[in-house]
Amino acid sequence: MDFQELIRIRRSIRAYRPTEVPEDVLYRVLDAGRVAPTACNLQPFQLLVVTDPEVRAKLKAAYRSDWFWQAPVIVAGCVEPAKAWKRKDGFNAAEVDMAIVMDHIILAATEEGLGTCWVCAFDEPKAKEILGVPDGVRIVAMTPMGYPAAEPVPFVRQPLRELVRNNRW
Ligand SMILES: Cc1cc2nc3c(=O)[nH]c(=O)nc-3n(C[C@H](O)[C@H](O)[C@H](O)COP(=O)(O)O)c2cc1C
Repeated sequence: MDFQELIRIRRSIRAYRPTEVPEDVLYRVLDAGRVAPTACNLQPFQLLVVTDPEVRAKLKAAYRSDWFWQAPVIVAGCVEPAKAWKRKDGFNAAEVDMAIVMDHIILAATEEGLGTCWVCAFDEPKAKEILGVPDGVRIVAMTPMGYPAAEPVPFVRQPLRELVRNNRW
């Protein structure tokens, strides 16, 4: 699929079929995250793939939306800020790194015909406890991953002329 088409087809999917995601497809998608750029190539992230019904049942306490749990796979993007690049003024690139990795994964999933939805509105401390994520590691985002069961809501974006400034703010 052409890249310009891919980035326009990708949408947040909030209804999933129960069909399993074949392992080769899942790992091709995760591998797209592996090759993403990170600051200084420090790669301070881990991808936590949640498919086990018992773990999923517990994790519901951290994010209750029913549609999220329709998807057979959940990918949690985890990052360790202590291992990420830091600028002299203290800015830490961990979350930027993780966002790029997740975006690679989400776009690769789209190319495979899979739906995803970037989710941040979960209870992070609860999710960390249930998933055994150690102190010092953040879960930046989670996405369900599965075959879509419904069309997304209409696409709404600002026109480019309202987003671009030339040379100075
Ligand atoms: C950083 C971030 C956090 C988000 N968190 C949530 C969330 O917690 N729950 C949810 O349903 N959607 C969440 N979304 C999805 C956005 O609502 C969605 O991307 C936006 O409305 C545009 O729609 P589209 O993805 O279909 O193009 C999040 C998206 C981003 C980028």
